[in-house]
Amino acid sequence: INKGNGAKGLSETGIKTIPKQYIQPIEERTMNKVIVGESIPIIDVSNWDDPKVKSAIWDAAEKWGFFQIINHGVPIEVLDNVKEGTCRFFDLPAEEKNKYSKENTVSNNVRYTTSFIPEVEKALEWKDYLSLFYVSEDETNRLWPSACKDQVLEYMNQSEKVVNQLLRVLMDGLNVTEIDSEKEKLLSGSRRINLNYYPKCPSPELTVGVGRHSDVSTFTVLLQDDIGGLYVRVEARDSWVHVPPVKGSLVINIGDALQIFSNGRYRSIEHRVAANGVSDRISVPIFVNPRPTDTISPLPEVLANTGQEPIYKPVLYSDYVKHFYRKAHDGKLTIDFAK
Ligand code: SIN
Ligand code: FE2
Repeated sequence: INKGNGAKGLSETGIKTIPKQYIQPIEERTMNKVIVGESIPIIDVSNWDDPKVKSAIWDAAEKWGFFQIINHGVPIEVLDNVKEGTCRFFDLPAEEKNKYSKENTVSNNVRYTTSFIPEVEKALEWKDYLSLFYVSEDETNRLWPSACKDQVLEYMNQSEKVVNQLLRVLMDGLNVTEIDSEKEKLLSGSRRINLNYYPKCPSPELTVGVGRHSDVSTFTVLLQDDIGGLYVRVEARDSWVHVPPVKGSLVINIGDALQIFSNGRYRSIEHRVAANGVSDRISVPIFVNPRPTDTISPLPEVLANTGQEPIYKPVLYSDYVKHFYRKAHDGKLTIDFAK
């Protein structure tokens, strides 16, 4: 009855249990162990040049692959506005949202979908999202939905300083201090931003918001609302920790591309989002990526500084991303493509 209105449409019909396509295998929807009373580091970045701040970031990038930053300088109104824009988009009637579906969209750079990649998934994820690949302000103005475009663009612009500082500090930790514009483009030359909507779920124990995966980005800047549900893998203890919402914070996680650039020093860690039966949730990740046309491999400086052999082979970034999108979420397996 609500074809094409995604998980949100299903949620709003008031169904008492989810359709069977959304039921996940038991091992994907349960977490064997969750560590409570502990989480990823929260780092105050009011002074990026403070040696303590830098080493906290290096440590977190190595040990957790995840951290939250506070006092990052992106105004709280900008964060609130992008969340509001996200709600405005998902509140549109199905036919408006479906102008951006795979079948209808005028550009693959703007796509609205339920789950992750329904065409290839055996079981769906309880989530809808709008994925926006940034090309130019002009294309944004022409193609992005007016319900959210100004807010999303403002957020992207305002977060660029944070992106650049993060890149600089992370590279500093690898003793890569010379970042010319070619290197900057290789590491961070493109942006994708997703608007994620996780509707309240009638059977949260049967499905997931997002299945286990690591990001394919260099790093990701994630804005979440105050609901919670993101869990990060702690490999050494075969368990998970929750990432608690912290007002005004941004969650940063290392992606596969940076694990590759750093020859394994910085770690791209598996994470997942639980479905919940209480409330809708939204999140907005900005994926800071190499350009599709770049070839990624361990940085020559890293190999020279450490005397290590490369543990990853060169791959064209667009091939790497294609490989990620050819299959359902499968934990950390994408990186094997570069081995
Ligand atoms: C994701 O990692 O795909 C989403 C994270 C989130 O919604 O918190
Ligand atoms: Fe992710």
